[in-house]
Amino acid sequence: MAPKPARLMLWTRQAIAEVFARLDYGALGAIYCHEGGDEFWKVKRRLCQKLGTALAGVVRRRLKPGGRSLYVGAGVAELALLAMEALERRRHVVACNLRKNEVRILNRACAGLPFRFEARDAAMVRGTFDHLWLVSVLNDPECYPELSELSYGRANPATFDPRRFARERRQVVRVVDRCLRRLSRPGLVTTSTEEAHWIADWCAAHGVPWRLERRQYPSPTVGDPICFMRLG
Ligand SMILES: C[S@@+](CC[C@H](N)C(=O)[O-])C[C@H]1O[C@@H](n2cnc3c(N)ncnc32)[C@H](O)[C@@H]1O
Repeated sequence: MAPKPARLMLWTRQAIAEVFARLDYGALGAIYCHEGGDEFWKVKRRLCQKLGTALAGVVRRRLKPGGRSLYVGAGVAELALLAMEALERRRHVVACNLRKNEVRILNRACAGLPFRFEARDAAMVRGTFDHLWLVSVLNDPECYPELSELSYGRANPATFDPRRFARERRQVVRVVDRCLRRLSRPGLVTTSTEEAHWIADWCAAHGVPWRLERRQYPSPTVGDPICFMRLG
């Protein structure tokens, strides 16, 4: 039987609750959904906090104190994870997101906490990390529409654009390459089962051994199955 996830410390859970209470859900609704944003967050808000906090307990056991994590596409789903890393593990976290509006909202809600979100391409970040978080990014319908349709098994053969797909694939390969080059070995990658293919492909091309943990966990907002990969 898999061990029970560690419960986060009381002050971390309180900090997470405060951040979730301070978020501007009206503005986030417009960013996360084309329509029905208010309804989305009414349904997701508590669930996202609960799943994120539980997942933070799962990730916590896998991280050593004082290390560094790179978060690609960090949003509301990652709040509890970032709080856990910074407050309980004293780790340095670099949290990147391309949406400037969302970064502003998240940073306002996180005021006083020892981490900030950055509106920048994670592929351009410098330094090394022992943990890479890459969840629901490489199948993001906004950044990679064709690739996203294919990944989720929704591609329409009548309208699918292979040239656009090839371009998106080149972009994704570049992001994966730049991020994985920054991962020390042994290193941990937290990703979704769909995105794990890109990691495995990079490892095969670079002769890096990897191992996939069998257990999966739902991601806090999108619900994609999250898995852990050990590299090196
Ligand atoms: C579908 S959202 C997922 C957000 C969050 N991880 C979640 O699970 O809810 C994808 C996010 O990835 C971000 N993103 C895509 N490519 C990125 C890159 N190269 N660097 C940083 N963020 C990126 C987008 O800006 C967007 O905010």
